[in-house]
Amino acid sequence: MATEWSGLTPEVMMHLDRDASESLGFQLQNALRTAIRSGQVQLNERLPSSRRMASDLHVSRGLVQNAYEQLGAEGYLSASVGSGTRVAFDSPLFRSSDPATAVRDDLEFDFSPGRPDLNSFPMRDWLWACGEVSRTASARDAGYGDARGHPELRRVVASYFQRVRGGSTDADNVTICSGFTQGAGLVLAALRARGVTSVAVEDPGHPDVVDTVRRAGMQVVPVPVDSRGLVVEILNETTASVVIVTAAHQTPTGVVLAPERRHALLGWAKERDGIVIEDDYDSEFRYDRQPIGALQGLSDRHVVTIGSVSKSLAPALRLGWVIAPTALVSEIADEKWRTDRGSPAFDQLLLAKLMESGRFDRHLRRMRVLYAARRNALVEALQLGARIQPTGLAAGFHAVAALPPGADEEHIIKEARRRSVGLQGLGHYRVQSAGAAPGIVFGFGDLNEDAIRRGIFAISDLLC
Ligand SMILES: Cc1ncc(COP(=O)(O)O)c(C=O)c1O
Repeated sequence: MATEWSGLTPEVMMHLDRDASESLGFQLQNALRTAIRSGQVQLNERLPSSRRMASDLHVSRGLVQNAYEQLGAEGYLSASVGSGTRVAFDSPLFRSSDPATAVRDDLEFDFSPGRPDLNSFPMRDWLWACGEVSRTASARDAGYGDARGHPELRRVVASYFQRVRGGSTDADNVTICSGFTQGAGLVLAALRARGVTSVAVEDPGHPDVVDTVRRAGMQVVPVPVDSRGLVVEILNETTASVVIVTAAHQTPTGVVLAPERRHALLGWAKERDGIVIEDDYDSEFRYDRQPIGALQGLSDRHVVTIGSVSKSLAPALRLGWVIAPTALVSEIADEKWRTDRGSPAFDQLLLAKLMESGRFDRHLRRMRVLYAARRNALVEALQLGARIQPTGLAAGFHAVAALPPGADEEHIIKEARRRSVGLQGLGHYRVQSAGAAPGIVFGFGDLNEDAIRRGIFAISDLLC
């Protein structure tokens, strides 16, 4: 869609060389043609008024009017009263048809895990926070700040983490980042600089985690997960001194790390003088159980907890936090500074306002009810349609349906897709797949109850 410039005329980068032998009028026409052909300005986009462009380029208005008329005659521009001068040429260079990057929106029921209910984003609260921040932010907030993030959000996150996750930290140990993915990258870079070369990961686990470890130039050490979470006995047999875990709700199996495993894991970290990186991605949403505290609450020297609002609010906000032992904080902050000079300050202030005003908690309460209903709809539909009792339902918004031994995950996913149902298999999450039992991971965050029922019934014959 063409950009609309709501009353203000846009800036268009245009360079005129006063020492060149060509006239300024000729140069201007050429520059405009190039800008349109290259997609710098696109179909239907409005150009600056002739008065404005003339003033910006320090040329006469008549010269710009002539250029606009000439390009109009050539079919590049069109002019009409009240709508100004607009681009009339559709540059083939701008059209993007790369199938790899195109968003696939053609599935009627998409059970891909990881997506919260995007329609429930609390836009009114966000707008309220925008108003508050616009009124209260200082000029200083618009400058470069502390690499760890705005002190206000760090303070609010530290207090939230203690209140809701049972952790133990203060604002000095919090670094604001753009979500788990960046947070993990920062921590791994800091550990790599200290000489750590391998990192243990859950198998099955999130493929992005594996990718993040590899991108940090470190070796991936897969450690199996069973019905009580990461098998710490096997972790003990590796030489790794760093591990990444989804302790509160494992991705993808949904199991909660059992209490004895939690203690064993922290014992392992202490003994190795190692680090447990806790991916605390969806712990806000728990259903039948008492909330399980963050591992960090049991060891602030050996655990780094990374939180994110990608599930609790929306992935598009790109905000999260790293809560790290004091010994690692400055290296993580240095890495953050080198990477992007800190996360956007006004967005941080907005999030701080949401959290501190109680609006964030209210949103979470609302979402828990909504997700619990969707979870029940999924359980019922799977039981009724395919006689499957899904597992991993204690928290979050994904669950696993085990398939009969020998079932062909890939075939089921392909056939479901033909029926307009998007699925993801456990195979997608495996690091080493030998002898693994087949299963489907059902995300239910972004589908309403009716869609869940209809989606499951459309494929239930494939799951039996
Ligand atoms: C296991 C896990 N961790 C973390 C994240 C969130 O990553 P980010 O905060 O970078 O959006 C996701 C997102 O799907 C996830 O599934």
